[in-house]
Amino acid sequence: MSDWYKEMSFYQIWIRSFADGNDDGIGDLYGVYDKLPYIKKLGVDGIWFSPIYPSPNADFGYDISDYRDIHPDYGTLDQFKKVLNKAHELGLKVIMDLVVNHTSDEHPWFIESRKGKDNPYSDYYIWRDKPNNWNSLFEGKAWEYDESRGQYYLHIFAKKQPDLNMDNPKVREEVKGIMRFWLDMGVDGFREDVINFISKKEGLPNGVPFLPAVNGMPHYKDGPHIHEYMAEFRKVCQEYDCFQIGEGPMTTVRSAMKYLTGQTKSLDMMFSFDHMMADCLYTEYVHRPFSLLKFKKALSKWQYALDGKGWNALYLENHDHPRVISRYGSRHFWRESGTCLAMSYLFLQGTPFIYQGQEIGMMNISLPSINHYVDVSSITNYHTYHLKEDPERRLHRIHLSSRDSARTPMQWDASANSGFSKCKPWFYVNPNYKRVNVEAEKKDPDSILNFYRKALRLRKSSKTLLHGTYHEHFPKDPNIFMYERCLDDESYLIICSFSRLPVRVRLPEKFKGKTGTLVLSNYPGKNKDQGRLSEQIEERLNEMEHKAGMFRPYEARVYRFKD
Ligand code: GLC
Ligand code: CA
Repeated sequence: MSDWYKEMSFYQIWIRSFADGNDDGIGDLYGVYDKLPYIKKLGVDGIWFSPIYPSPNADFGYDISDYRDIHPDYGTLDQFKKVLNKAHELGLKVIMDLVVNHTSDEHPWFIESRKGKDNPYSDYYIWRDKPNNWNSLFEGKAWEYDESRGQYYLHIFAKKQPDLNMDNPKVREEVKGIMRFWLDMGVDGFREDVINFISKKEGLPNGVPFLPAVNGMPHYKDGPHIHEYMAEFRKVCQEYDCFQIGEGPMTTVRSAMKYLTGQTKSLDMMFSFDHMMADCLYTEYVHRPFSLLKFKKALSKWQYALDGKGWNALYLENHDHPRVISRYGSRHFWRESGTCLAMSYLFLQGTPFIYQGQEIGMMNISLPSINHYVDVSSITNYHTYHLKEDPERRLHRIHLSSRDSARTPMQWDASANSGFSKCKPWFYVNPNYKRVNVEAEKKDPDSILNFYRKALRLRKSSKTLLHGTYHEHFPKDPNIFMYERCLDDESYLIICSFSRLPVRVRLPEKFKGKTGTLVLSNYPGKNKDQGRLSEQIEERLNEMEHKAGMFRPYEARVYRFKD
C-alpha cells in the first residue's frame, strides 16, 4: 500500500457541533459543505468524520443503528455524496469512523438477536447465562440482563452499546460489507474505533479485582484472534488503496508495533493514549497538574520506537478529551500556550490530526450542575467516584475531565449562538465565544488560527519536517520541550517553553557556533514574515544564546540549520 497519508494532516469533525446549515440547532452536512473552503484553507489534506450514521445517541454516534445511512439530523446519503465530491475537488481525503466493537441496542441485528437463541442473528452478540465480574467503561457492570432472551449480553461501553461477537465469521463478513459500501462510494479510509478490543479471550475469564473500571481489559485488549481479524479487514482496504487508522486505548508501543509493522501489519497508524495522561485525567480517579516530563517521555517513546518502522498519529485533542489549553496550557497565556502546544506536536514525525475548534484555541466549559451534562461517561463518573467528597468538588472534577467540553458548538463568530446556528443550539456555547472565534482570529495575524495555518504550511514545505529523524534534547528539562528533525544536511530545532516565567534556553552542543534561521515563532513581532521562507529573518545563534536565549512564557520557535 502506498503511503500517501504520511505527508498529510487531518481535521476531525464531530458533526453535531460543527456547523448548522439548516437552522435547527444541530450541526449537519449542509454546514460541513459550506465550511469545506475553511478547512481547506487551514492547510489540512483530509477530514475524519466521527460517526454521522443513524444512532439513538446514547454515546453520540458511537452507538450505531444503521451502518449504511446518514443520521436524519445530519442530512442524507445524497448530501454526504455532495460533501465527499466537493472535498475531493478541493483535494481533501475523507475518512469515516468504523465502529464495530459494538452496535446500538436499536440496531436490527440486536433486535433480532435478543429475541432468542435460534435466529440468524443469535450469535452476533456475546450472550451468557451467567455474567463474569467485568465492569463496563461507561456504565456500571459490563453485563445487562435481557428479559426476552433470558440471558445477559456483554457491553464494554454503555448499556445501549452491546459488543459484537467478532468470533462469528458472519459478523466479520458484515464488517467487510460495511467497509466496501463506503469505499465503493469513494471514501478514502477508516478510523477504527477501539479496534484493539474486538477479540475477547475464550471463556471470558474473570478480571483483576483491584482495577474497577478496567478489570476485564486484560481479557479483551489485543485478544487472541485480533491479528487474524485485522488481516481480514486489511485485505479489503488493500483492494482500494485506502488508509486505516486504529484507535488503541491503553495500548503500549510494544503491542502497537504488531498492528503497525511486519507480517501482522494491519493499520497505517494508531491513536495512542500515553501522552494524553500527562495529567492523569483519563482515568478520572486522579487528577494532577500537567507534567511536561510525562508528556515528553510519552511522545519520545513513540517517536523513537516507530522511527523507520511505523508511522505515528499525532494529536492533542479529539471528541473524547477535554480541551488541551485547559489541560496542558494556561488560560492566562491562552494564545501563547495554544500556539506552543501546536508547535510541540505538529513537527513530530507522523501525521497530525486537528480537532474542530482546537485551531482557534477553544477551551473547556464549566456547566453549573451535573444535570447540564449529556455525556454518558461524565454522568456515570460523577455518580460513581469520590462519593464522599462534597458535590461541588465532584462537579469540579467533571469540569476538568468531561468529554462534553470538546463537544460544545464551534465558535464561528461573535454573533448570537457563536454563529453556529441561527436557532438555539442543541448544547451550550462556551461563553468565551466573543473573544475566541474564527472571524476574529482570521483578522488577527498573530492568532492561534493563523499560527496553525503557518505551521501546517511549514511542515508541508519541508522534507525534513515530514520525513526526517527525531531526536529529543534535554529530556530531563522540566520546562522546555526541545527536539530535532534531521534529514541529510538539514536539521530543524523545535524549542517550546512550557514555563509561565521567562527561562533561559541552553543549546545542544552540536548546534553551538552554527547559524540557524528562525522560521517560525509564536510571539508577535518576533518574526513578521514567519512562514514566508524566502524572507526569513536570519538570526545568529550565538546571539540567541545571549539575548534571544531567554524564552518568554510559552514561547516556541523553530530554527532551521543547513550544514
Ligand atoms: C471510542 C470513541 C468514543 C466512544 C467509545 C465507544 O473511544 O472515540 O467516543 O465513546 O469508543 O465507542
Ligand atoms: Ca441542522
